[in-house]
Amino acid sequence: MVETRSENRDRLSELKAFDSTKAGVKGLVDSGLQKVPSIFIHDGLRAENLAQPGKSHLSVPVIDISGVKMNADLRREIVEKVGEASEKWGFFQIVNHGIPSSVTEEIVEGVRKFHEMDSEVKKQYYSRDPTKSFRFISNFDLYQGPRTQWRDTMECNIAPNPPNPEDLPDVCRYYNWCRDAMFKYSKCVMELGNTLFEILSEALGLESKYFKNMGCSGGIYLLGQYYPACPEPELTLGFSSHTDSGFITILHQDQLGGLQVLYENQWVDVPPLPGALVINIADLLQLITNDKFKSAHHRVLSRKNGPRISVACLLRTHLEEGDEPKLYGPIKELCSEENPPIYREITVKEYIMHRYKTGLDGSFPLLPFKLH
Ligand code: OGA
Ligand code: NI
Repeated sequence: MVETRSENRDRLSELKAFDSTKAGVKGLVDSGLQKVPSIFIHDGLRAENLAQPGKSHLSVPVIDISGVKMNADLRREIVEKVGEASEKWGFFQIVNHGIPSSVTEEIVEGVRKFHEMDSEVKKQYYSRDPTKSFRFISNFDLYQGPRTQWRDTMECNIAPNPPNPEDLPDVCRYYNWCRDAMFKYSKCVMELGNTLFEILSEALGLESKYFKNMGCSGGIYLLGQYYPACPEPELTLGFSSHTDSGFITILHQDQLGGLQVLYENQWVDVPPLPGALVINIADLLQLITNDKFKSAHHRVLSRKNGPRISVACLLRTHLEEGDEPKLYGPIKELCSEENPPIYREITVKEYIMHRYKTGLDGSFPLLPFKLH
């Protein structure tokens, strides 16, 4: 008992030392570190034998959404596939989604340049304050979660209230460049998000604009993830198992791989597909569909090669609320006597605050909002 306590104390002081560098995991790697420090070690990972991927015969659905706006028969097919994937997997990839690869390449480069800028300059953005509209952070749940992860993140609250460019600290050329790329990419994501919400509404037998009218498509929280090369990838993860906090997530991953989704109790690779975007159902959509659509657990392995870069857009508002905060609960049309509401009504802010408070502690974040 005494020993555990002193271990915890050691862990806490190591976490604080790491945090105070404000240089993230990339700072450790740049210092020439050859071993993964103990705070990053995930017990039990080695036993999983991560070096043997692809044992599973399962593959995440890939859906071609071209023609969704032009051809009624094609649209019906797409709606059916998206509905099935959302119920069974909560995860799928889409191709021919209409976001030009030049726009995606630019945002990835922007994220790379941000993370690779002079560390003294980058430090100025390092913050644990989630109300900041733009920040750089390593492990948002550093002090809450049980396991530290091999990942740094830049975050920006983009919509519905984009940060005022003049209000953002404007200290370097790279940052301006990244900012332009972010806005351009987010505009495309917003449009694609609206299309996806239409498809998802139709898949549930609801009117096309149902989710849009509920306000599901109005917010974007953008995460530019940077996973540095890891000297001992069998000991730590880039991102621990988690579900996402929004309604849906639109994710671009680069070609290095490492993303996995939990399906029927097995980790299944989500292989990089050139030009594809990964879509996953997130917690708030599971809540309003009364568990019909599944918010899937996923994680990212760490790798010897890197950096791996991804851009995740969480479609949701953030902590700001208007005078009358919107309440989200199970949609009445989807509930019945046999299928009564599972969750109470919540605001997005309430939900996000809960997630920040618990971190990725392994619990299912919707649990405290269950009615029974
Ligand atoms: C996330 C996430 C996966 C990735 O940002 O929530 O799961 O590939 N990212 O970086
Ligand atoms: Ni995620």
